[in-house]
Amino acid sequence: MCGIVGHIGPKNSVDIVLEGLRRLEYRGYDSAGVSFIDEHDELQIYKKSGKLDNLKGLLEGKDFQARMCIGHTRWATHGEVNDTNSHPHMKDHISIVHNGIIENASLLRKELATGGYEFKSQTDSEVFLALLTRELAKKKSFKQAMLDSFALVEGNSAFVVLNKDVLEIMSIKKGAPLVCGINSVNSEAFISSDPYALAGMASQLYFPADNVLCHLSPKNKNLINFYDNKGNPSEDFMSKKQDMSVGPTDKGEFEHFMLKEIHEQPELIRSLTQFYFHGEGLESLLKAGEFVPSKFHMTACGTAYYAGLLIRDFLENYNKIPCSPELASEFRYRNPLLQKGESGLFISQSGETADTLAAQELCTENNIKTLSIVNVDGSTLFRNCNNNLLIRAGMEIGVASTKAFTQQALTGRLLSLALSKEVNEEASRVKLTAKFSLLAEKIDHLIARSEEIKDIAESIHNHKGFFYTGRGVYFPVALEGALKLKEIAYVHAEGYAAGELKHGPIAMIDEDMVNVALVGPELFEKTVSNIQEIKARKGVILSIGPKDHEELAELSDYYFGIDFDGLEELSPIYINVVNQLLAYYIAKYKGTDIDKPRNLAKSVTVE
Ligand code: G6P
Repeated sequence: MCGIVGHIGPKNSVDIVLEGLRRLEYRGYDSAGVSFIDEHDELQIYKKSGKLDNLKGLLEGKDFQARMCIGHTRWATHGEVNDTNSHPHMKDHISIVHNGIIENASLLRKELATGGYEFKSQTDSEVFLALLTRELAKKKSFKQAMLDSFALVEGNSAFVVLNKDVLEIMSIKKGAPLVCGINSVNSEAFISSDPYALAGMASQLYFPADNVLCHLSPKNKNLINFYDNKGNPSEDFMSKKQDMSVGPTDKGEFEHFMLKEIHEQPELIRSLTQFYFHGEGLESLLKAGEFVPSKFHMTACGTAYYAGLLIRDFLENYNKIPCSPELASEFRYRNPLLQKGESGLFISQSGETADTLAAQELCTENNIKTLSIVNVDGSTLFRNCNNNLLIRAGMEIGVASTKAFTQQALTGRLLSLALSKEVNEEASRVKLTAKFSLLAEKIDHLIARSEEIKDIAESIHNHKGFFYTGRGVYFPVALEGALKLKEIAYVHAEGYAAGELKHGPIAMIDEDMVNVALVGPELFEKTVSNIQEIKARKGVILSIGPKDHEELAELSDYYFGIDFDGLEELSPIYINVVNQLLAYYIAKYKGTDIDKPRNLAKSVTVE
């Protein structure tokens, strides 16, 4: 979704902002723009729909030395994708970028238009520019105009504003991610919606709380000052050393980031137990295991939710702790019953998903403890929860989540060990480490058989629809497998509990419908009966099940046998890697944009 980067300093700010925006490309966007103060103190603006390269094309050959700049990648919410609706928006000596949604935009727009403001774009964002212009026209200071304008907008947003008159950047947010940074050696100040944009550039980061005004100016002794909503100095921010490295963001030998990330899984799995049993992670694992709640309310979105369903199975089977899973977007508006002694459990890759954050907030308001299983250290979710377990997946760039799913589920398994206190027994730790290693090894073998999956994908990629079916612990991965295919191949796919098919969906089965049957060792016979029902109705069967199984092979049009031995509760995670590769190759045959599928964003920061 939308990305923001801003910079003040002696280097050419446009270069720095473009580099930051490049790093945020993976989040998904449809247009990009920058606005800056050049060496003649002129305010300039360049923006273009489409990829960042289109914007770079506009800037090519222009020789300027910008001393401050703000930039934005837009993921359209209000108004179609075009150059005018792209950010920044500018009027007179002010330009702004915005992330989030102004919920009362249409009301404010009418009022401002009646007052004589001429809107250029269809965006809600321009409403904030109009408010600011109006407040500044009343001879208010920049600071006061920011605070007063912000007080009038409803919803979750972050605004970053460049003011040519005073040569300053100001920013304020509520319920949207924002981070400031400095590099005092180089006298540089930064602002962004994502700390990753500042990796290797800022040395110190500041995460402001909601409603805190951030003031970036070369005249400030510390480059950045913070104010509360009355305009008084504020210390309501979290400060942290920047320790994130840019990391390898190239695809290496792989054609797509998604494929690279699928291949990274075995190594990540091996290092997870190392981190938690022998490294820095131990403390956080023990801390997470200290409080054994009477119930978990597990909420998340998308792939993270499906990983959460596997975690629910671990917690209920091994710890006998009831776990109620719910999509965060539903949970937040349902008035769930939250009682003393219970705990909120949030699963997220980014730690910035708006609905998951709102669900967490709801739990905190109801005085129940909150625990996250999250990838991004220092993300909003990480900061807001009482306890956190990092999934250590590294940077995930492919929009369709793969390695994060695997690491989330496995971190959930570690949580269940911690809650059972078995984590204190050497033998239990050794046993689980061996199981994780076995999983990693089997995934390695599976990846080595990618050509076989590719051949199956070639044969089935033109079918009209796909039902992924599974029972018990394989049902969550049926949901995840179907989601993967929808996301990147744009094919209709549904995940179903195999036993439910005959309650409706079986009516859709014909020769053009594929049933991807996930047949693990658990409930094997029952799942095979469900396959028979589909076979009888001429559905195309692709079964992914135990290797060398003659009956299954005979029953199926396509059969991919895998070795489940010794995996036990980790078997759904294993089978899911076949789903990942299958979706990848089907999408490849379809010729879609696998790493940046249409309409999708990596991190959904609006509800
Ligand atoms: C988006 C992404 C998914 C992700 C979901 C939740 O829909 O495209 O890959 O699973 O958001 O994101 P989170 O960062 O909270 O895991």
